Amino acid sequence: MAKGKSNWTMKNLPKGKDAEVVARDFAKELLDISKTNPVRKPGFKMKKKKHAHLLGFVQHGVNSHATGMWRNHTDKRGWNYAEPEYWVHMARTMERGKFDAMFIADELAPYNNYKQSSDDTIRYAVQCPVHEPSTIVPIIGHATKHLGVGVTLSTAFVHPYAMCRHLSSLDHLTKGRVAWNIVSSYSKSEWDAYGAEMTNRERRYEKMEEYIDLCKMLWNSWEEGSVIADRESGIYADPDKVREIDFEGEFFKCKGRHFVARSPQVQPVFWQAGSSPRGRDFAAKHAEAIFAVHPNVERMKEYADDLEERCYTNFKRPANSVKKIYGLQVIVAPTRSEAEEKYERIMSHIPLEGALAWISGHFGPDFSTYNLDDVVQNIEIPGIQGLFESIIYAKGGGPVTVKEAALIYAQGMGMPRAIGTPQDVVDQMEVYMDAGADGFMLAATPTPTCFEDFADLVTPEMQKRGLLRTEYRGNTLRENLLDDGD
Ligand SMILES: Cc1cc2nc3c(=O)[nH]c(=O)nc-3n(C[C@H](O)[C@H](O)[C@H](O)COP(=O)(O)O)c2cc1C
Repeated sequence: MAKGKSNWTMKNLPKGKDAEVVARDFAKELLDISKTNPVRKPGFKMKKKKHAHLLGFVQHGVNSHATGMWRNHTDKRGWNYAEPEYWVHMARTMERGKFDAMFIADELAPYNNYKQSSDDTIRYAVQCPVHEPSTIVPIIGHATKHLGVGVTLSTAFVHPYAMCRHLSSLDHLTKGRVAWNIVSSYSKSEWDAYGAEMTNRERRYEKMEEYIDLCKMLWNSWEEGSVIADRESGIYADPDKVREIDFEGEFFKCKGRHFVARSPQVQPVFWQAGSSPRGRDFAAKHAEAIFAVHPNVERMKEYADDLEERCYTNFKRPANSVKKIYGLQVIVAPTRSEAEEKYERIMSHIPLEGALAWISGHFGPDFSTYNLDDVVQNIEIPGIQGLFESIIYAKGGGPVTVKEAALIYAQGMGMPRAIGTPQDVVDQMEVYMDAGADGFMLAATPTPTCFEDFADLVTPEMQKRGLLRTEYRGNTLRENLLDDGD
């Protein structure tokens, strides 16, 4: 199949080897685009060096954010994603690479709106199967000394009291290294699975505000020094220092004391990735780190300025209170040609129908009702607006077809790619850091190899340039996240 405008329709979609040819051709096109992208101008120098914060972005499942990676010959060779040994190895690899944390994304049910079915989600392992994310947190915490674990847990179907107990327990078990990626279930499939009527974005954020208020009350209700544990007197804890919560809001009621004693971080580190104006305000108010995907430096700068403005003007938070972590997909090898070859091979595994099922799941419309050559900029998107923008601007604002959108997205959620030698990769990171990035959320390709490659090749290059810690200096995740180096 030739590049550019295709004559594929939804009825004669390429299958099997033909689909691979489409994906491989497209990988080449995108490689050309990224080559012409003047990421680092000659003579570029960073304004101010600081340490980057690195997060390994994965799911507790067979495949994360690049569709079809499970097919690659280097993916999980000798590992079973459903067993603890795999997660121990992943965690230790990330710690060796001096990452701040593993970031475990999640959703609560398979996407079900492509062709009004979840068949292709299941067929092509489109973020499916996915196991419950918090079950691996204690395994990761126990296997490492410094690595944090960010876990995605939805506020949609769990009472805040149970959420607080759960996260406090994890904070104890990781000795203060847990973060909570706060989400409210954007996908209808999640609401269908839980047998509930989906509420709109505005209402979900209103509920989340109340949710967080109540959580903060519970977490902070065990004062410092409340546990005495005096064997002599038999007094374990001082009830005067454990406040009873008596809360009645619009959405929740709670009367009682938090069941878990004050944990090392008191409350988990708050992570957020809301991207709508409402979502950005929520993040500006509560988050300690926010995740965003922007395809180029201009969008990153705009986003960073907007977020800083919201933090200061709307919530009186001082400058740089929120770490801005940008998505990046790194494909690194000792030589540029090896990295490009690796990239093309990786991308040829993307099944077009799996990609279409994913964009349907994340953005809302059933893309089987469009033609592959339709322009996505003309399509109304009820789903994750911020991530859709990563597609819209992927070709510098030029028209992007449904086929292109699906393939761009399925490579790694629309994240920009850094493909090349360790020097090429870190050159690109420097430019993004200069545009306001405090760190990177690194999208998995084949695992655990992509993180092994990063730790072996990119980490030393970053350290050489003073862009990454050589030792962890904090005890908790929060302390490490706040440490930008000297
Ligand atoms: C980088 C990134 C990662 C995300 N990861 C998840 C996730 O793992 N689970 C989830 O339910 N939502 C996830 N989301 C969705 C958002 O957190 C948010 O709920 C969604 O964007 C809807 O809010 P919004 O309309 O304000 O963007 C992610 C969004 C972004 C930008």
